[in-house]
Amino acid sequence: MKVLGIETSCDETGVAVYDTDAGLRAHALYSQIALHAEYGGVVPELASRDHVRKLLPLIRQTLAEAGLGTHDIDGVAYTAGPGLVGALLVGAGVARALAWALEVPAVGVHHMEGHLLAPLMEDDPLGRPEPPFVALLVSGGHTQLVAVDRIGQYRLLGETLDDAAGEAFDKTAKLMGLPYPGGPQLAAQAELGTPGRYKFARPMTDRPGLDFSFSGLKTQVLLAWQNSDKTDQTRADIARAFEDAVVDTLAIKCERALEASGCKTLVVAGGVGANTRLRARLAAMTQKRGGRVAFPRPMFCTDNGAMIAYAGALRLQAGQHADASVRVTPRWDM
Ligand code: KG4
Ligand code: ZN
Repeated sequence: MKVLGIETSCDETGVAVYDTDAGLRAHALYSQIALHAEYGGVVPELASRDHVRKLLPLIRQTLAEAGLGTHDIDGVAYTAGPGLVGALLVGAGVARALAWALEVPAVGVHHMEGHLLAPLMEDDPLGRPEPPFVALLVSGGHTQLVAVDRIGQYRLLGETLDDAAGEAFDKTAKLMGLPYPGGPQLAAQAELGTPGRYKFARPMTDRPGLDFSFSGLKTQVLLAWQNSDKTDQTRADIARAFEDAVVDTLAIKCERALEASGCKTLVVAGGVGANTRLRARLAAMTQKRGGRVAFPRPMFCTDNGAMIAYAGALRLQAGQHADASVRVTPRWDM
């Protein structure tokens, strides 16, 4: 079964074809970063309009790269939420129209389920991680620990009470004058930083439970930055201390979740999963416990069409699809 996947929930237009026999056939991504950079964040109306401009050309490009015509497609998957309503409607409208014209089923996918399943579509020397496992979802909008009993059956173990980890990266970067989108920039600065010159708290690790809180860290960084000489080296040193605090906190809670659930395998997904130091830290922690961690390759940690094509293919294979109405769910629990 060949499934066309469409992702338009925020500021990336992503398209891919996933083949349940041959794996990922082709994928294409257009990022709107340059468009939103001068505003310091995503402008929803501009995002929707840019998806309108880019989606059909990207679909053509992806099909051409896969060596397929529209009539080879057996199903269409699209992100139905959560996300920006106008942006979601562009993807949903195009997906539903295509599916109707091609007389194939269409399925709306939960964006975070797309992220969560992304590590499972990768070739992994240790083999595909099989449920049950614990998933850490760390994106710009979510920070959650989820117990995956089987595909489609998810139990929330813990989540952030305020900022998501990616949001904390972005806001911290912004307050030290780094350009949008700050997360990867802050991580790059942290590589140049001196470990240990600054030290920030590991929020909520001193009490039991699997919830997170990252907004206080941002305030600690603000105070440190305001009271500093504001040199490039100091910015890098603060970035390093911030990253260490986030990575440590995430690793401590992941280890607790593995302990509590008795699972050996951790799966990590979402944009912050691209962070090199987090990847190394979680690999070391799971190895020490005799288990393993699985990540998507860094480009499939952030938003992309491949994860939606893959999650949609699993749902379509299981016979799940909805009626032809164009419906999106901007706020939606997984
Ligand atoms: O999953 P994603 O692409 O979009 C959402 O669904 O939110 O995640 C984007 C988030 C942003 O907050 C971005 O700053 C963060 O992931 N991010 C990173 C890195 N790359 C992306 N954070 C830390 N280190 C990185 N290397
Ligand atoms: Zn995302």
